[in-house]
Amino acid sequence: MEQYIIKGGKPLSGEVNISGAKNAALGILAAAVMTDEDVTIENLPDVRDINVLLEAISEIGAYVKRIDRHTVLINGGNIREVSVDDDYIRKIRASYYFIGALLGKYRKAQVPLPGGCNIGSRPIDQHIKGFRALGAKVTIERGAVIAEADRLSSAHIYFDVVSVGATINVMMAAALSEGRTILENAAKEPHIVDVANFLNSMGANIKGAGTDTIRITGVKKLHGTEYSIIPDQIEAGTFMCMAAATRGNVLIKNVIPKHLESISAKLIEMGNEVIEYDEAVRVIGAEHQRHTDIKTLPYPGFPTDMQPQMAVSLALCEGSSMVTESIFENRFKYVDELARMGGSIKVEGNVAVIDGIKGFTGAAVNAPDLRAGAALVIAGLCADGFTEIDEIGYIQRGYECFEEKIRGIGGIIEKVDSEKDLKKFKLKVS
Ligand code: EPZ
Repeated sequence: MEQYIIKGGKPLSGEVNISGAKNAALGILAAAVMTDEDVTIENLPDVRDINVLLEAISEIGAYVKRIDRHTVLINGGNIREVSVDDDYIRKIRASYYFIGALLGKYRKAQVPLPGGCNIGSRPIDQHIKGFRALGAKVTIERGAVIAEADRLSSAHIYFDVVSVGATINVMMAAALSEGRTILENAAKEPHIVDVANFLNSMGANIKGAGTDTIRITGVKKLHGTEYSIIPDQIEAGTFMCMAAATRGNVLIKNVIPKHLESISAKLIEMGNEVIEYDEAVRVIGAEHQRHTDIKTLPYPGFPTDMQPQMAVSLALCEGSSMVTESIFENRFKYVDELARMGGSIKVEGNVAVIDGIKGFTGAAVNAPDLRAGAALVIAGLCADGFTEIDEIGYIQRGYECFEEKIRGIGGIIEKVDSEKDLKKFKLKVS
């Protein structure tokens, strides 16, 4: 079983390049099949979830050509199947984007219900509410969502919950509906704006993305386009926390600083230095950092996907911090793993109280999910001694070349898959 082995204690320094945004790319790849013309997408992150989605897109009959590691050409002209059903697509949540894309284009879609995952139950009732409001008949049969409509017409939809997935999914279906649709209480994340910009580059008519009210005037057809994905806000934030927690000095390049404002603000509150450039941020970790409180909220609030990484940074501050997770019901699974490294965190419901400690000690831990896994890597980079992290497949779903990028800024980390390699690494770095 592959695992990361890390020797901690060294402040990170140097430059790291951020890849394209996974959560924008997943929506954009699904939307790419909504035209019969060529679509070229650049700055794709080379991560497992993206590659699984590309496989599924070719499985339903679309033409998929990998131009290079970060560029793909897709043509949805030969799609012969609106039922997406294979084992690996069930593993990624974003498979539900096929419903909005195929329903919009073919007025029919059948997609496996996305599984829950380690951070919560993850219902899709708001997606279904939106599709039904547009005029689709949506049923759940034998573990799949089946959506079909004679026609999709205008609707005024008020989301009961601010949902990234539902906003993107219903926006896609509405883009090819007849009439004007208004989405209220819509999510405002940067990746919503990126998907809307992508659809507009294909001839859609979407206004207001990035605000809580999105207006969509349906069009008959969408045409081909060339588009480049925005940088990944969460990967950037992960490296910002890594620099702060290891008391390092790192230039994080190819970012949109505006998207990182809530993360920068918190790191500055803790006493770190964050310098913003046009397309980069520099984080200089302070030796003595102060505790602060975090509450995760929909954008522009503090992102839930940065909660575990920030918790690790707060664990190395002086004083006690309070972290409130208001988006998902089960996003503190890393706390038990951090306890093995000397962390002192108490969880009551959706609140974690983090007591600052002098430092972590290396231990064998398990990654419970994608972002918690990244947080454990940060803890390992700060820890005294060696940390072994199992279940790193979760981490590889969302971080491209994670260990190479960390080594590039001086981190001592390797991916190993045998006891022999583990011993070799320990000898090499000791
Ligand atoms: C997206 O998930 C991201 N995933 C998540 O990132 C991210 O944590 C989340 O948005 C919030 O920002 C992708 O984009 C692939 P939601 P999504 O719908 O769309 C509830 C990562 O680490 N809800 O915004 O599934 C839901 O239970 C991943 O990259 C409903 O009640 O999240 C949650 O409490 C993890 N009904 C809240 O809304 C619905 O129909 C926000 O969920 C939909 C959601």
